[in-house]
Amino acid sequence: MNDSYYNNRRRIRANQHIRELATTIQLNHKEFIQPLFLDETISTQTVIDTLNEVNSDTIQSALVQIEKDLEKGISKFLLFPVPAKKSVSNFDYHFIINAIREIKKKFGNSVWIAADLCLCAYTNHGHCGILNANRDKVLNTESVIELSKYALQVVKAGADCIAPSDMMDGRIGAIRETLNENQFDDISIMSYSAKFSSQFYGPFRDACKSTPGNNCNIHDRRTYQASAFNKNDAILSTLRDIEEGADIVMVKPALPYLDVIHELSNTIKHPLAAYHVSGEYQSIELLAQNNIIERDKAHIEVWTALKRGGANIIISYAARHAKEWIEKIEY
Ligand code: PBG
Repeated sequence: MNDSYYNNRRRIRANQHIRELATTIQLNHKEFIQPLFLDETISTQTVIDTLNEVNSDTIQSALVQIEKDLEKGISKFLLFPVPAKKSVSNFDYHFIINAIREIKKKFGNSVWIAADLCLCAYTNHGHCGILNANRDKVLNTESVIELSKYALQVVKAGADCIAPSDMMDGRIGAIRETLNENQFDDISIMSYSAKFSSQFYGPFRDACKSTPGNNCNIHDRRTYQASAFNKNDAILSTLRDIEEGADIVMVKPALPYLDVIHELSNTIKHPLAAYHVSGEYQSIELLAQNNIIERDKAHIEVWTALKRGGANIIISYAARHAKEWIEKIEY
């Protein structure tokens, strides 16, 4: 049997050179965002047990970490505060404000700082908003008013971008209006617009001490986060957030919702971020620790899938390795 009897697909796979020529996708470390946890309750950089090789930082250790990350080609960061004091209202944002000030004082515009905006690390019940008196409902209006105040404070401290992850209705419009009224019309908003209620946030909630359910009568986030069983809701949330002024939109988690990434990338022309979340990251890390898969190649494979699916921006706990790993890809 010769070539004429079958469709030869192997010529294009024959060696590294032709495989490189035939690629339809390239990864670029410039499209990555590195999350950082800033924890007010610690005095030195501390490992997060459930998130391999990821640490919680003090303000001082974050400055050192960012310096190292810049050397590795990563300049965009997503900041998560872990405040010492948890309450039900009148939250105290001074810690993250100081952190952003210090980071901007040291690095200026060589870094891009997106501040995750949510109340879950501040509330003593772990929900992303303010509760009613019976503690069985997350109040939308009250939460949005609080989030807008919070956004203004972090922007005044120097944040380049606000990243609301709470999933309340109307928060993008309210934050945009607050920022514009205060002459911060140049500050971008990256909306966690298609954020699903997910098992894969487990390690993150350990790190942020934000598991919902204590001191209240609602034990999950299903009344505000999107459902895996309702793709249309996630699409509509994203279209709505764009209408309200979101500059960048996001799908989160990433891999289980690749269909949503794909559909959005075909529908909208805004930058689209895929957040490969803590549980997704840690699944790879645990397999790699058990020598079942190769860590770097597994992350690269997932990142490539996210880009093929249509994401432009990747948020990953391994972002700081992106440049090094991408350089040594064997196609
Ligand atoms: C806060 C928030 C969460 C994540 C980012 N922002 C957790 C949650 O909604 O419970 C998850 C990130 C991750 O798992 O890596 N609202």
